[in-house]
Amino acid sequence: MGRGRLISFEGLDGSGKTTQLDMLERWLSTQHISYIRTREPGGTSLGVEIRQLLLNRPELAITPLAETFLFQADRAQHFAQLILPALARGTLVITDRCFDSSIAYQGVGRGVGATLVEQLSLLATQGYQPDLTILFDLDPVQARVRTDVAQRTDGSGEQQSRFDVEAEQFHHTVRQAFLDLASNHPARIKVLDASQSPEVVHQEIIALVGQLVL
Ligand SMILES: Nc1ncnc2c1ncn2[C@@H]1O[C@H](COP(=O)(O)OP(=O)(O)OP(=O)(O)O)[C@@H](O)[C@H]1O
Ligand SMILES: [Mg+2]
Repeated sequence: MGRGRLISFEGLDGSGKTTQLDMLERWLSTQHISYIRTREPGGTSLGVEIRQLLLNRPELAITPLAETFLFQADRAQHFAQLILPALARGTLVITDRCFDSSIAYQGVGRGVGATLVEQLSLLATQGYQPDLTILFDLDPVQARVRTDVAQRTDGSGEQQSRFDVEAEQFHHTVRQAFLDLASNHPARIKVLDASQSPEVVHQEIIALVGQLVL
């Protein structure tokens, strides 16, 4: 049995990652492809606790470096406990966010430094990188409108996180950081226009994922 593949979905809050993971799951099932769906932060029991600290406690003071290490602690546990064993068994793993988010949000957005955060990330993943990263590129204003609507209409959005409350400029900076990562890693990171309809985005994702798993 070959090594499994790791696919990460990246992009701003509200760019459509969860929506598309749901659609991809349905497609994988019709193709009889087994997979594990997970997320960062929060893919392990420890990670669920770290996620609470990071996202649901906006009143808690956390320095940019402390924030960086909390995400890396989540990631170290996630790769050691869940992702790497699954890949070793030959299983496909799909994760809602991975270390490109750390580089974009903490490395660039918070100013910790992209290179430093990349190095810490590779320590946490034991050197492993996703085989494919799909970047949901969307204007931050559009992304915000989507999450606001979701919050108002069905309460499906999670409560406001430490990042939701950041000014618009922060999200523009993070978006650009993601795009810079994509141009530096063109073989791994595929940029997708997330302003398109869910069905069009889904077809583009199937084309990319299909190349890897079919
Ligand atoms: N292609 C699309 N066009 C319009 N609206 C969309 C599209 N995809 C998703 N949405 C809607 O936008 C909102 C945010 O989408 P979703 O929760 O999938 O984003 P997300 O990237 O997972 O966000 P977060 O990082 O906050 O979890 C939802 O209400 C969803 O229904
Ligand atoms: Mg989501």
